Amino acid sequence: MSENILVLTGNPRREEDNNTLADAFIKGAIKNKNKVIKVNLAEKKINGYNADNGCRISTRSGNAYDDLAELELLLEDTDVLVIVMPIYWPVISAQAKVTLGHLCQCGSDDGEKHLHIKEAILLTCGETDDAEDFMMTKTFLNMLSDFNGMKVRDMIAVSGVNLNGDINGNDVLVQAEKLGLSVGA
Ligand SMILES: Cc1cc2nc3c(=O)[nH]c(=O)nc-3n(C[C@H](O)[C@H](O)[C@H](O)COP(=O)(O)O)c2cc1C
Repeated sequence: MSENILVLTGNPRREEDNNTLADAFIKGAIKNKNKVIKVNLAEKKINGYNADNGCRISTRSGNAYDDLAELELLLEDTDVLVIVMPIYWPVISAQAKVTLGHLCQCGSDDGEKHLHIKEAILLTCGETDDAEDFMMTKTFLNMLSDFNGMKVRDMIAVSGVNLNGDINGNDVLVQAEKLGLSVGA
């Protein structure tokens, strides 16, 4: 059964290694006839969560001043959420954090579940050679998924990636494509 996949990239360097990793995943996912939409959060204007339930994604944000409402429409139609982000000092990029801070599909004031995302996937790159340095990003994804009732399907963390092109030829691109191909299979 094909799935609706939303790929959110949180990289301000728009066309670089994290994007290459995302595209490898998408290549596999499309082969398997999944419907894929990719959004770069660095191109969106999304304000931080201000502790007002009205700005959660679980309720219509109605906020004409940012792009959250547009993203909310996509999330409502998402089965599998793929979060692609570099690690920055030493967690996720600000663009990704601001957006994911709004994610709340579990409940809302009217008790209705507005989002029905079943699975989450993490794809991330970092300069570090120490796998431990991805721990906070992975913990973040685990906790976010747990809170939102999403199963973590997989995480791919790529070390030793800093300058654009560092990821080229890396076996992780094959791994990411296979992961994409596994969705909806
Ligand atoms: C502001 C900033 C902070 C960073 N902090 C870290 C870090 O704490 N650990 C790490 O391994 N890499 C760090 N990096 C390196 C990035 O993770 C790496 O350059 C990025 O994943 C490369 O992906 P890209 O080509 O898609 O930009 C940092 C990069 C920048 C620009």
